[in-house]
Amino acid sequence: MAQVIFDKNTVIGAIMTKVWDGFIRGFHWLLVIGIAVLYFSGEEGWLDLHFIVGYLLLALMVTRIVWGIFGSDTAKLSSLFHRPRHIIQALKSKSPHVGHNPAGSVMVLLFFILIFIQLISGLMTTDDILMEGPLVTYISYELAELAGDIHQLNIDLLLVAIAVHITAIVMYRIKGVNLLKTLLTGKSDIEAKSPKMRRGWIGYGIFVLLTVLILFAWGQEPLSAVL
Ligand code: HEM
Ligand code: HEM
Repeated sequence: MAQVIFDKNTVIGAIMTKVWDGFIRGFHWLLVIGIAVLYFSGEEGWLDLHFIVGYLLLALMVTRIVWGIFGSDTAKLSSLFHRPRHIIQALKSKSPHVGHNPAGSVMVLLFFILIFIQLISGLMTTDDILMEGPLVTYISYELAELAGDIHQLNIDLLLVAIAVHITAIVMYRIKGVNLLKTLLTGKSDIEAKSPKMRRGWIGYGIFVLLTVLILFAWGQEPLSAVL
């Protein structure tokens, strides 16, 4: 919803347009925390914790895809696909955009692909000692070995994507576009028709439901080891 904010020191007020709903804002920081915990628990071999957080992240990412179909206009997956010409234009442009700009959309799609590769390969990976992902029983030993290699290699691609992402946010800030503030507040001072927003709690409701289902199906062993 567009909102007019009046500063008591100025006569003219600024138009604030809501661009990110509560779910997308929370999703982003839950994703950041989840990936950090998964990285360190994987490297340290704390696999019970790794599995539990892996299941939480799986529920979060599936919710983001559902939100990409039924959620707010700016969360829609369909808004992430653009012509190459528009992507190049967006890289040169300094003007803010309602939702992800076409170049940012490429980054978001790349993240979704890399994170799902990491999750699915994890579900098919075993440490050959105590822990095995819940899909290992359904696949051959060779495929589980391949999944393990992918799980190790893909993490480096994910780290490179994160570095590019943070550099891009800093570059936009230098150009005068504060994407971080917009993500934190959900509001932009861009003057535009307000996109259609859904209530964030619906997204969190879906996330909790999926978490319970996944933990019930696969999480009982690592949960009882940790608790
Ligand atoms: C985005 C999500 C994930 C990230 C970032 C991640 C990251 C990592 C990292 C950094 C390692 C250490 C690799 C190494 O030894 O060099 C690892 C190992 C492992 N991960 Fe994940 N992981 C994720 C999801 C999952 C999931 C969902 C599962 C299964 C439920 C899983 C199962 C495993 C297993 C079994 C290992 C040990 C592999 C071995 O010892 O060879 N991971 N993960
Ligand atoms: C593990 C690290 C990170 C990952 C995996 C990540 C991933 C993502 C993803 C997937 C989105 C799209 C959100 C959506 O539509 O669902 C996004 C957007 C965004 N991220 Fe991150 N992020 C990370 C770290 C950070 C950090 C540290 C910052 C702050 C400097 C940041 C700032 C932003 C901003 C400002 C946006 C909105 C971009 C726009 O307006 O188009 N991210 N990030």
